[in-house]
Amino acid sequence: HTEATETVQKDIKYAFPADFWWGSSASATQTEGTVEGDGKGPNIWDYWFEQEPNRFYDGVGPAKTSGFYTRYKEDIALMKEMGHNSFRFSISWSRLIPAGTGAVNQKAVEFYNAVIDELRQAGIEPFVNLYHFDLPMALQEHGGWVNRDTVEAYVKYANTCFELFGDRVAKWFTHNEPIVPVEGGYLYDFHYPNELDFGKAVQVAYHTLLSSASAIQSYREKGYNGKIGIILNLTPTYPRSQHPADLRAAEICDAFFNRSFLDPAVTGEFNPVLVELLTKDGYLPSMLDGDREMIRQGTVDLLGINYYQPRRVKARESLPNPDAPFVPEHYFDYYVMPGRKMNEMRGWEIYEKGIYDILTNVRLNYGNIECFISENGMGVQGEEKFRNEQGMICDSYRIDFIREHLKWVQRAISEGSNVKGYHLWTFMDNWSWANAYKNRYGFVSVDLANDGQRSVKQSGYWFKQVIEQNGF
Ligand code: BG6
Repeated sequence: HTEATETVQKDIKYAFPADFWWGSSASATQTEGTVEGDGKGPNIWDYWFEQEPNRFYDGVGPAKTSGFYTRYKEDIALMKEMGHNSFRFSISWSRLIPAGTGAVNQKAVEFYNAVIDELRQAGIEPFVNLYHFDLPMALQEHGGWVNRDTVEAYVKYANTCFELFGDRVAKWFTHNEPIVPVEGGYLYDFHYPNELDFGKAVQVAYHTLLSSASAIQSYREKGYNGKIGIILNLTPTYPRSQHPADLRAAEICDAFFNRSFLDPAVTGEFNPVLVELLTKDGYLPSMLDGDREMIRQGTVDLLGINYYQPRRVKARESLPNPDAPFVPEHYFDYYVMPGRKMNEMRGWEIYEKGIYDILTNVRLNYGNIECFISENGMGVQGEEKFRNEQGMICDSYRIDFIREHLKWVQRAISEGSNVKGYHLWTFMDNWSWANAYKNRYGFVSVDLANDGQRSVKQSGYWFKQVIEQNGF
């Protein structure tokens, strides 16, 4: 571990607040495994894999995960050893309530109780997310998030979780990246139900927002002693130039992909640019009396920010194809910034300052609401080739990635941003939706060929020292 040790400087130049949350994040469907085991009902991923296994990288579906369901004790012990003081995971709705509504699966209650207790005993604060892309299939059969009944089913599910675990969980999140199922499921064909329908996309986004606000309101009414928020993937959006057409293109892109959820979740109001466009094009969702009030009251206490990459935007140079399905890119186009830094493996730009720009935006325009980095990370293919003779994956690129982002987080804090923590995506390499095991993100590698054996990567040891020193 000498190399890792050397990377951490003795003098702390970048210091973090005393009560900073250090850790990582994960999700149920990506880590638990045992798809139909112990009473779990199928979700949309189980179903989609059954229908179209060839759309999944290497033909690997959600059954083959890192096996957290059976190995959680070992994994939590490792988290503790690595110094983490917090961990974000999600509850699988279809494990807890197999049909989406109705009977609760006692085996699932036992499992989540055990995970929460194990974390707390290890001194690791559980951050619990209720929904990470995994709708119970039984609800999808009735239209999923297009159908307003799903909102009601979700709020019942959320209340069940609060009642079962609210005595020991003080940090709740209603949704992870709620825009992703909208994009994947209804605009760009990478999540089930793979429809291309802008009107449905808007309705799904709206129902998701409503479900979040209703669950938050319900949590508050019941007087639990904790905080509740949402986790959004924010993509700082930069115009190609200061030309008014480029500025307008960036403003619209930002409205669709960031402020669509950020504005109502934090301020209770819809983004005016978005409302103007949806009204003009006839795409406003159907709403009921009382919804506006619900959304105004169901604002978050706490904001989780997932940051991977920015968006670079320019004005469209040609008219959109009138025969193609309507998408937000109708209004703008992307461009490649010359000289940009890339994670070539994932095809994503690396722009560390983006994390600071988001935090500054939240500080200046969103009441400096309490927030934390709930995901940031680097997906890499073929990491096995970096394993040294002692069996450790030497991922210096990931250390650089984290360190450079943390520098900007620290700068935001020094300027007054209300940032309380940093969680890497992810704790251990996991299965990731249609990409399956293509991109590895973990602090810990999982050897699938060897019974899922765990081994801490160099970045995990480096991070441990950062935590111990509360800086670097
Ligand atoms: C995040 C999601 O957006 O990206 C995770 O919250 C996901 O669920 C992660 O695994 C990485 O995605 P990918 O496609 O690179 O594996």
